[in-house]
Amino acid sequence: MAKPLVLGNWKMNGSIPANAELLKGLRDWDAKKVELGVCPPAVYLPQCQVVLNGSDVRWGGQDVSTHPEGAYTGEVSARMLRELGSHYVLVGHSERRQYHGETDALVAEKFKVAQAAGLVPVLCIGETQAEREAEQTLAVIERQLQAAIDAVGIAQMAGTVVAYEPVWAIGTGLTASPEQAQAVHAAIRAQLGDVGAKVQVLYGGSVKPDNAAELFGQRDIDGALVGGASLKASDFLAIAKAAV
Ligand code: PGA
Repeated sequence: MAKPLVLGNWKMNGSIPANAELLKGLRDWDAKKVELGVCPPAVYLPQCQVVLNGSDVRWGGQDVSTHPEGAYTGEVSARMLRELGSHYVLVGHSERRQYHGETDALVAEKFKVAQAAGLVPVLCIGETQAEREAEQTLAVIERQLQAAIDAVGIAQMAGTVVAYEPVWAIGTGLTASPEQAQAVHAAIRAQLGDVGAKVQVLYGGSVKPDNAAELFGQRDIDGALVGGASLKASDFLAIAKAAV
């Protein structure tokens, strides 16, 4: 079974003094049993590199360009993320899909480019409320995951991360029940076949200290992608401890 991973997605939050405080609170984490990482806005990656260097805590980007370099204003390349010591990068977060029109094909290309550059891509997938109500959840998940599998080949999925984040549970305070999440995680693992055991499958969507243990108790939930609760060291660490 893959080692648990608890990853913080700061989204567009943070400031130099607030980050300093938060990172200081995290840097003594011992990753022997559970890996811990943060994905701040890209401009704060150098600060992570300074504060977290030499610690067990890893960091990464929230998005990556499909292009290696050039005239792509506003974009950040995989090489640049690596240069700042990034270990992970999120691809296809639902906010990118929703507000920036990212398609399965584009997300799969980002996944491939990130991996080729030596980053661990974190593929975010999840259904909307309407899709769940239409009983399309498993079909949507399968389609989103298959796009990445097709881009890199199934063997190359080993060592990557998949985050199941039901869109209706993100930032809403609504969480999938442990049983609802487990059902989707089991389907993800089945689709990954033989490499399934080598992929960390995270749950995301309103994970908090008081619901983390129950989620982590499910067979196929290997950790969490945490938004709001990753901005406070005590909450984020409480979630990580629930995965130990
Ligand atoms: P949330 O966000 O924990 O604030 O719901 C999760 C995410 O979007 O990654």
